[in-house]
Amino acid sequence: MNQNQLKQIELKQNVARAAADYVAAHLSMEGVLGVGTGSTANAFIEALAPLKGRIGAAVASSMATETRLKAIGIPVVDLNSAGDIELYVDGADEITRHLAMIKGGGGALTREKIVAACARTFVCIADETKLVEVLGQFPLPVEVIPMARSYVARQLVKMGGQPVLREGFLTDNGNIILDVRGLSLVDPSAMESQINQIVGVVTNGIFARRGANVLLLGTAHGVKTLTR
Ligand code: A5P
Repeated sequence: MNQNQLKQIELKQNVARAAADYVAAHLSMEGVLGVGTGSTANAFIEALAPLKGRIGAAVASSMATETRLKAIGIPVVDLNSAGDIELYVDGADEITRHLAMIKGGGGALTREKIVAACARTFVCIADETKLVEVLGQFPLPVEVIPMARSYVARQLVKMGGQPVLREGFLTDNGNIILDVRGLSLVDPSAMESQINQIVGVVTNGIFARRGANVLLLGTAHGVKTLTR
């Protein structure tokens, strides 16, 4: 592992601890916590361990996260029995100062978007390498019903994209992912809606219509807080 990778891990751990402090300060005793997926979310789960008696129920955005939460003794409930999520904490692949994101690098975008929709407050946790002026350097993940793969890919090409099948990968919902480069994301809300109109698309990894409310950003000068 090189110096930059080690530094990024340290920033993720710092931001994960800051997020655990945020939970301790803002989650009510009866509130349900939503927990995201990915390496930053995994660091957050580790930082939650000392708070486990304080968290009555959590909703997981993936099977992997559910396993990790249960392993540290946090009760995981089904979203349908949870109702509203008081606080949702998750990472991102890219995020702007307006708190619009690309997510889904780990393939959990659909469940993440559902949990985000149910959340009163969405706290994004990220290291400073994720902060961008305009979304789109990171290939956009699009979850697709398998039989629609070719049709959806053709529609994405017509929109200016270059879709690539994520080889050997199925989502927790049994679908495939197309990773798409080349789309113009200067208006991320519009593109989010346009891609979702393609028949066969389950959802796409633009989180602009429901962006984050708070960003905890791990930087070399400490954890910074940005809000919308
Ligand atoms: C999972 O599907 C993603 O949305 C993750 O939240 C995102 O990819 C961030 O992952 P890392 O924290 O591992 O960078």
